[in-house]
Amino acid sequence: MAPAISAEELAHAGLQLAVEGAVATITLDRPQVRNAQVPRMWAGMARILGELGPEVRVVVVRGAGGTFSAGLDLSLLDPSQTDEEGNFIATLAASDQEIIDQIGIYQLPFAMLADPRFITIAVVEGHAIGAGFQLALSCDLRIVAEDARFCMKEPALGLVPDLVGTKPLVDAVGYARALEICATARFVPGDEAGEIGLAQVVVPAAELDGVLAATIDALTAHVHGAVTATKRLLQEAPSRSLEDQRLAERTAQVARFRALAGG
Ligand code: ACO
Repeated sequence: MAPAISAEELAHAGLQLAVEGAVATITLDRPQVRNAQVPRMWAGMARILGELGPEVRVVVVRGAGGTFSAGLDLSLLDPSQTDEEGNFIATLAASDQEIIDQIGIYQLPFAMLADPRFITIAVVEGHAIGAGFQLALSCDLRIVAEDARFCMKEPALGLVPDLVGTKPLVDAVGYARALEICATARFVPGDEAGEIGLAQVVVPAAELDGVLAATIDALTAHVHGAVTATKRLLQEAPSRSLEDQRLAERTAQVARFRALAGG
């Protein structure tokens, strides 16, 4: 069952949604501002991800108009702006805990992309800056065009990356490379993203859709429950001892045996 979010709500959030069989595609759709992100977009994404039916096995995240996302909508950092979202400077009147809680709400859709129920794929063309880079990092896999350019811009703005991107970045490229990319806020081009493990596939932009379709076919070829349980095991492996991971494998296998025996 597709999420109940209406066309008007999607447009308001700056999103497109297509659910076709086992594949849900969420497209950031504010191309006039290079798919810059605003809190109503994050709320819309959280709602979509929370309402996806059990038939959905793959979630694709991409951007409209040849750009993945230019990150946070910079008008939110401008006290003179009067967008319906207000601006982030105004939130400084709140207590530390209130700000922490608010950012926790903003982080929700990024964290939800790790849900073992589905495999998430960022399809990255053009820029993925700041919150855009973190959105791509929050997906399990990144299929990237040669023209892609990743940048963790936050330190250059005096901020830290706070939208769930730091852990997957370290997991993908290691601590030293992650620090170098963040501290310099440099642009990482598509070919380098492939070489350092940030992207699983790098192709000319014209080949993105074909590679995506083939990847989705391969990812959905096998038993859904087995793939879900395996994703969970792999996600949890870094935080467990070998002994604990062995136990987790045995325990997960019992559930698989019983599911297979039950038909
Ligand atoms: N927020 C709001 N508007 C934006 C943003 C943004 N993050 N990025 C681009 N836009 C707007 C531009 O203001 C411009 O608007 P205009 O047509 O009314 O002048 C339009 O999108 C097109 O932008 P250009 O800069 O003309 O596009 P170009 O392709 O030359 O460059 C690029 C794209 C590299 C993404 C550039 O726009 C840019 O550097 N944007 C800002 C990136 C940024 O600093 N993001 C915040 C990171 S920190 C964080 O996410 C927490």
